Amino acid sequence: MCGIIGYIGNRQATPILIGGLRKLEYRGYDSAGVSVIDPSSGAGSRVVRCRGKLSGLEQKLVAEPAVGTVGIGHTRWATHGRPSDENSHPHKVGAISVIHNGIIENHLTLRQELASAGAKFSSETDTEIFAHLVDHALTAGAPDLVTAVRRSLQKVRGSYAFVVMSDKEPGTLVAAKNSSPLVVGLGDGENYVASDVTAILSETRKVIFIEEGEMVVVTRDAVTITDFDGNVHKREPKIITWSALQAEKGGFKHYMLKEIHEQPRAVADTLVGRVDLENDDVLLDGIELDVKSIKRIIFIACGTSFHASLVGEFLIEALARIPVEVDVASEFRYRDPIIGKGDLVVAVSQSGETLDTMEAIREAKKKGAKVLAISNVLEASIPRLADYAFYTHAGPEIGVASTKAFTTQLVGMALLAIYLGRRTGTLKPEKARELLAELVALPQKLRDVVESGAQIQAIARRYGNATGFLFLGRGAQYPIALEGALKLKEISYIHAEGYPAGEMKHGPIALIDEHLPVVVLAPRGPSYEKTVSNLAEVRARQGKVIAIASRGDNEIGSHSDDVIVVPDVALELQPIVTVLPLQMLSYYVADFKGTDIDQPRNLAKSVTVE
Ligand code: M6R
Repeated sequence: MCGIIGYIGNRQATPILIGGLRKLEYRGYDSAGVSVIDPSSGAGSRVVRCRGKLSGLEQKLVAEPAVGTVGIGHTRWATHGRPSDENSHPHKVGAISVIHNGIIENHLTLRQELASAGAKFSSETDTEIFAHLVDHALTAGAPDLVTAVRRSLQKVRGSYAFVVMSDKEPGTLVAAKNSSPLVVGLGDGENYVASDVTAILSETRKVIFIEEGEMVVVTRDAVTITDFDGNVHKREPKIITWSALQAEKGGFKHYMLKEIHEQPRAVADTLVGRVDLENDDVLLDGIELDVKSIKRIIFIACGTSFHASLVGEFLIEALARIPVEVDVASEFRYRDPIIGKGDLVVAVSQSGETLDTMEAIREAKKKGAKVLAISNVLEASIPRLADYAFYTHAGPEIGVASTKAFTTQLVGMALLAIYLGRRTGTLKPEKARELLAELVALPQKLRDVVESGAQIQAIARRYGNATGFLFLGRGAQYPIALEGALKLKEISYIHAEGYPAGEMKHGPIALIDEHLPVVVLAPRGPSYEKTVSNLAEVRARQGKVIAIASRGDNEIGSHSDDVIVVPDVALELQPIVTVLPLQMLSYYVADFKGTDIDQPRNLAKSVTVE
């Protein structure tokens, strides 16, 4: 996820900007840059940017010093446009420098409009568009920077935190927020703006958090918050008591917990620019698949991404009626798979670097298949190797156990299935519309689930000493049972198995006694009654049942020891809501046991060996 810092005061800005960006390095980035003005010189800002690490930027700054007491700095994690010097922020157009976190949803339309009005672009990013908009607003008569930013904000849709600076008004930074975090730090004769308190904590602990739909004008001596119409919002500053490490984790105890809580925002970012409600369709970032020629889809993936692929199988077969197979990448590459033209291989990888998946892609391409990659990391090896790439935009995931990368993969599966179904003709516009509307409503529903932490923590404490867990689910809940078991194993080191609920009687039922917690995924749906029967079978053998059920289900409580309720959503999207309580259960069990949650033993975030 990108990082933002801005400074306005009497000290040299560059060391403060670089120091702030260093504090944000842990979030992951691929390029960095600063734009700094010396208000006393009358000269414009100097922009220095470079692909790669901050040390590279620092070296560049030795050769091209950026001197001045006002500046903005940014670490970029590429979403639109590959990592390169030109695509790094700040973007400068005329007198305007801009840094941006988030995604401008309507950037393609705006780019065309601006190009027809004569704008020349020097990057592939969505961000540069905003610099052009502000510059254009000023040329068109906006009296000052604040008005120009306000007018430009009317034109953009999407998620953003922007900070804008003008060579012509060097005493002012203007920032705006919609869905991406933004905080102002208060000093004495100096002020700061940042995406996270971490960036400014060594300078000040007195901060104001900017809220949705707010703009903030920051000078050396004043901070004025308004809405986008200019109405002033008064807010008292807060004093931050977090340590630097706590601040990195957004006040959460672990990155994993922070990332669990980021899921509503991450899902919203996956949807940005892809939901076409006017045509009941999905836009796949310009990917044009020849759907009629696809005879079969084969998913290849590992670990959690394999589980997301199993949900993909369910969704694509249901909505697009194309036959789907799912293979573990390390098996696929060695079994001489029968594959060729007419097969679309979908390679799913959060990191985009998993060696097994990469080699499986090579095997598929050798045999003539087209490959679509679903990855969270722009320009990673897997999307580069594939013919097409779909990015999940979850932001960097630091906890080794995947959470937000998984849920956004599931959203990607739903989008892909709708896209395919609309083109095979098996998905009617009405059903597509219903699913798309439900996808758009998902972030709020996920917020409801992550807020049920206290109940899940209490359950985790009760079962935290168990030596094994069983996870059961049917249909698209079966992969979620597998994922729940994997998550628990990874971070708590408790043995756990995921099973299709109907398979329990064929073996695992022998394990059930009063010591075995059984987590049963039982949201409303066609297999609800059968799942409830399985749950009763567990209860009859003194097993402890933790049910994940739909809100308003008054029956399930009589068959379960604990019920965790999730909001009602369309059957096809249920896995996206039911997995959250399982991630939280694993997290709280592991926390109860005191394991190293963010870096569990023997595991790596990206597995680049066989
Ligand atoms: O980066 P990838 O999605 O290709 O990684 C695949 C697995 O290594 C990964 O999902 C692993 O299972 C995670 N630790 C799951 O939490």
